Amino acid sequence: MNSNDLKEKILQLKKEKNAVIVAHNYQVDDVQEVADVIGDSLALSQYCAENDKDIIVFCGVHFMAESAKILSPDKTVLLPEIDAGCPMADMVTADALRKEKEKHPGAVVVCYINSSAEVKAESDICCTSSNAVKVVKSIKEKDILFVPDQNLGSYVAKMVPEKNIILWNGYCITHHKVSMSEVKEVREIHPDALLLVHPECQKEIAEAADFVGSTKQIIDYAKQSESSKFIIGTEMGVLYQLKKDNPDKTFYLLSKGLICPNMKKTSLKSVYDALNEMKYEINLDEGIRLKAKESLDRMLQIS
Ligand code: 13P
Ligand code: SF4
Repeated sequence: MNSNDLKEKILQLKKEKNAVIVAHNYQVDDVQEVADVIGDSLALSQYCAENDKDIIVFCGVHFMAESAKILSPDKTVLLPEIDAGCPMADMVTADALRKEKEKHPGAVVVCYINSSAEVKAESDICCTSSNAVKVVKSIKEKDILFVPDQNLGSYVAKMVPEKNIILWNGYCITHHKVSMSEVKEVREIHPDALLLVHPECQKEIAEAADFVGSTKQIIDYAKQSESSKFIIGTEMGVLYQLKKDNPDKTFYLLSKGLICPNMKKTSLKSVYDALNEMKYEINLDEGIRLKAKESLDRMLQIS
């Protein structure tokens, strides 16, 4: 089947099965084209908590489909590529977190949504890159154990200096490797472009940027900005929406390494197979799900 046939079949199956296709901003263009909703981690979780379809086909990585299942237990949640994981989410386990909590008994545990259901269940509240500052500001206690992203954690620590943020040593393999020499080089080539970066980039990259935000916040910023040129410091998938929203503006990727191999696993063929063969279904232990839901619900109340 060519891609037009696949798109047609996907739309047909989606209708027949009362399914919805949600896609993260980092998905390949073809997949974003067939999606009903495209967004950042927060927007997609909010959507999954509220929609009325029977099946959610989650085009993203494992923790995102898990979050959809945590929030919508009665729905069938499908992850088209079962091996699409997030290496950063794997950098903290529930066991390791329990041990760290023992060392900081009074600390409130904030976990980035890029984490497993078991880690969410061990945490007090979740956050995403778009609401991490707001979530941390909402906490009364001074000591915060922030897992697993050290870069998002450092960014939050800078924005909320009144808190004592204890960092975990996790990082995103895609954003963490962006270097200052790449920033200098691209800034020299495009001196009149604004630099917009994701907080998963290292501290000095965020400090050198004109704007720091989640994928959706970067997309919204570029749309409302009066500038016409932007250097984009996040995964290349966002270029799809940026170019679609702003045909007269120009976007340069900060580094050619800004590709998440896991986000790129999902193709039109895998979305078709997911709907056709009802795979891969995400299921969770009910005890874990309920505890993880408390952390996500607390976040959603604040957002
Ligand atoms: P957001 O979409 O929330 O900005 O997160 C990006 C991300 O790392 C997803 O893995
Ligand atoms: Fe995980 Fe980074 Fe890929 Fe996001 S971009 S899914 S944090 S590896």
